[in-house]
Amino acid sequence: MKGIILAGGTATRLFPLTATTSKQLLPVYDRQMIFYPFNVLIKAGIREVLIIVAPDNSGQFLNLLGSIFQKHDVKVEFMVQKIPKGLADAFIIGEDFIDDDDVALVLGDNIFEDDLYEKIGSFKKGGMVFVKEVPDPERYGVVEFDKNLRAISIEEKPQKPKSNYCVTGAYVYDSRVVEIAKSLKSSDRGEIEITDINNEYLKTGDLAVEKLRGVWLDAGTFDSLLEAGNIVKDRKMHKKFDPIIDSAIKEFNAELKNIAKSVLFRRQNKNIQTINT
Ligand code: DAU
Repeated sequence: MKGIILAGGTATRLFPLTATTSKQLLPVYDRQMIFYPFNVLIKAGIREVLIIVAPDNSGQFLNLLGSIFQKHDVKVEFMVQKIPKGLADAFIIGEDFIDDDDVALVLGDNIFEDDLYEKIGSFKKGGMVFVKEVPDPERYGVVEFDKNLRAISIEEKPQKPKSNYCVTGAYVYDSRVVEIAKSLKSSDRGEIEITDINNEYLKTGDLAVEKLRGVWLDAGTFDSLLEAGNIVKDRKMHKKFDPIIDSAIKEFNAELKNIAKSVLFRRQNKNIQTINT
């Protein structure tokens, strides 16, 4: 299975923080936000990851993630999404990367407390989404259940939600997803919707709907960003990362310290020479 992290978009709600960097590179407690979705994929055993970024800060993503996983046999690729056309665009941009494999997509600003790896690992075919009971379902894709509690439809940001269960930002599909994404028409808000992909799989009875128990956050506003940091700290979520991610971050930090030291050393030497001459 391949993995995609969708880390584009404009993040206007977090302006001016996002005037100088991407939302997904902002800190959530002691690490950049993007490590949280990365962790979901790595824990699930995925070792080929495509990161889709907006054009503006693509260099910053490359600096942080371009080589830190090399030692750990995790292949990371990058692609730019020029215009935020919708979540389903990830599968069109990622067509060659996905090839004929299954694919897990995690949104770059989503933080999951639950370990998703067992469910992702049990994936066979069709699609799989993770849902969470929320007080404000109208902000999300919302699942409608029949009386046997089977999912029968999903509506994107409905005015009158048919349940309190929203679809969160982690999805698993077989390679059919690419053709489905390509066949979609833009919605009223001008995006190609992942909800339409999910409804396609639902129609043929091929969508597994898994309920989450733990905390789920999308850190897209000042309040949710702060809340995310606090929850991570309180629940010690930063201590439960896959060892691959922890080692990669430690190695990266050590390398940065060395670079900083040698830059300082060179500057000091230059000053000494300037004084001597
Ligand atoms: O968070 C879960 C929700 O995500 C689902 O319940 C909805 O069904 C789904 O449509 C989506 O809702 P939003 O419309 O609120 O997603 P948003 O526009 O906030 O985008 C989610 C992330 O994906 C965000 O970090 C920016 C990034 N993104 C978004 C779009 C539209 C991209 O990288 N490219 C895009 O084209």
